[in-house]
Amino acid sequence: MTLSALPQRVKVCEMGPRDGLQNERGVVSTADKIRFIDLLSRSGLPLVETTSFVHPGAIPQLADAEDVMAGIARRPGVTYLCLVPNLRGLERARSAGVRAIAVFTAASESFAKRNVNMTIGESLAAFRDVVKAARSDGMWIRGYVSTAFGCPYEGDVPVENVVRVASALADLGVDEISIGDTIGVGTPNQVVEIAAALQAVLPVERLAFHFHDTRGTALANVVAALQMHVAIFDSSCGGLGGCPFAPGATGNLATEDLLYLLHGMGIETGVGLEAVRDATRFISGVLQRDVASRAYNALETQLAART
Ligand code: COA
Ligand code: ZN
Repeated sequence: MTLSALPQRVKVCEMGPRDGLQNERGVVSTADKIRFIDLLSRSGLPLVETTSFVHPGAIPQLADAEDVMAGIARRPGVTYLCLVPNLRGLERARSAGVRAIAVFTAASESFAKRNVNMTIGESLAAFRDVVKAARSDGMWIRGYVSTAFGCPYEGDVPVENVVRVASALADLGVDEISIGDTIGVGTPNQVVEIAAALQAVLPVERLAFHFHDTRGTALANVVAALQMHVAIFDSSCGGLGGCPFAPGATGNLATEDLLYLLHGMGIETGVGLEAVRDATRFISGVLQRDVASRAYNALETQLAART
C-alpha cells in the first residue's frame, strides 16, 4: 500500500540566497553569495531565488543585487529568480540581465503594509505595470502570497482572502503563484482546504507552496499538498533563515529534508541531495552557525562515522 495519486516529479525551488540570507543577522560578502549560488545551481535545482531588487534600506543584506547577478555563472536550465517590488526594481533587474522576476504581496493587509508599504490593492495595482513590462520583455514571472496560513499581526487569515489575492495575480498573467506560510503556523487540513479552494481559480500546474518549519509542520504540509496534486515546493538549503538569536524562530523548510522525503517516496526532482549539502556546508561555515536541516545533519553524521 502507498499513498495514492501523488505527482511523479516535483519542482524544488531554492530560496536560500534570498529568503534565507535576508533573514540572517550576519552579512555575507558578495563573493561568498556568488560562490553559494553557483554551488546550488550545480546541484540540478531548476530554480534558485537569487536576490531582490528592493529598496536597499528595506533589506540591507541584499543591497548588492547587481553585483551578485553580474558575478554568478549562469547555467542553462536554471531559473535565477529575483524579487522586484515595483517598476524601479524591474528597471534595475532588467539592467542586471535578469530573466525571471517575482512580485510579492500578502493575504493580510497589515503584513502587506509593513512589507511593501502598500495595501494589498495598491500592490496589485503596482504589479499590473510591472508584470506587463516584464511580460513584453519575455521574462518569466512568479507571484508570492505571504501570510496565507496566518499573519503575525492579524492572526487567522480567511481562505477567501488567499483566493482573492491569488486569483488577482493569476489575472495579471503571472506564470506561477507561490502560497506562503510565512510564519510557519499551517497544518495539513489547512493545506488541503487552501489547495482545494485555489484549484477553483488556478490550474494546479501553476500552484506552489512555500512552507516555513517554525513549528515542525512543514513536511507534513508537503505530504498534504502532494495529495492535492501540488508539484512545486519552495525550500531553503540547510533550512536557512530565521533569526539564530530569537528562540524558536526558524527558516524555510530545509531543501535537504524536502529532497529526502520526496526521493524516499519515489518522487523525482532531478536534484542531488549531496550537492545541496555541499552548498549548505559552505554557507553555514560562512555564517558560523548550526544547520537546522535534519537530513543535512544525518548525512554529516553518517559521513563522520564512516571516516
Ligand atoms: N530599488 C531601489 N530603490 C527604490 C526601489 C527599488 N526597487 N523602490 C523605490 N526605491 C527608492 C525610490 O527611488 C525613492 O528614492 P528617493 O527617496 O531617493 O526618491 C525611495 O526608494 C522611496 O520610494 P517609494 O516608492 O516611496 O518606496 P517606499 O518607501 O514606499 O517603499 C518598497 C516601498 C516596496 C520599495 C519597499 O517597502 C521595499 O523595498 N520593500 C521590500 C521588502 C522585502 O523585500 N521584503 C521581503 C520579501 S517577502
Ligand atoms: Zn519565506
